[in-house]
Amino acid sequence: MLTKRNKLLHRLRHGRKTIGFAVSRMAADEAELLSIAIDAGYRGRGLSRDLLLTHLGHLAGRGVRTIFLEVEENNQPARRLYERAGFAVVGRRERYYRQAGGEQLNALLMRRDLS
Ligand SMILES: CC(C)(COP(=O)(O)OP(=O)(O)OC[C@H]1O[C@@H](n2cnc3c(N)ncnc32)[C@H](O)[C@@H]1OP(=O)(O)O)[C@@H](O)C(=O)NCCC(=O)NCCS
Repeated sequence: MLTKRNKLLHRLRHGRKTIGFAVSRMAADEAELLSIAIDAGYRGRGLSRDLLLTHLGHLAGRGVRTIFLEVEENNQPARRLYERAGFAVVGRRERYYRQAGGEQLNALLMRRDLS
């Protein structure tokens, strides 16, 4: 997936160790943030914010004007990260995620304009 030219990936490094990444798929002037994660041992230090803002800046530099993402409704750290980075909820998908135990969780669709 990462070898395709429509993907943009940034990794966050601590020394020689990769401790986070963000990856998006671009199409015309839109992109979808497919995933962002910080190594569990490095969470809670605000590291994801700089990673996300750097990633968004590079997407804007590639001509992306609007970015979308999906987030599980109860994922408070991720929702807080996105809200503080300027994303707004524009949709809700009922029972979008299915847990291993069978529980079904809702997804929020979020959007931010980069221009
Ligand atoms: C989402 C993720 C990338 C955030 O990374 P992080 O650098 O550790 O983020 P922080 O710990 O700085 O938390 C981000 C915000 O959520 C808040 N937060 C953290 N845990 C929280 C909780 N349990 N409830 C409510 N808010 C919480 C923080 O206070 C912070 O808000 P602030 O900037 O207003 O202080 C990280 O939690 C992660 O990798 N999660 C697993 C992968 C994932 O869920 N990715 C998103 C998929 S859509």
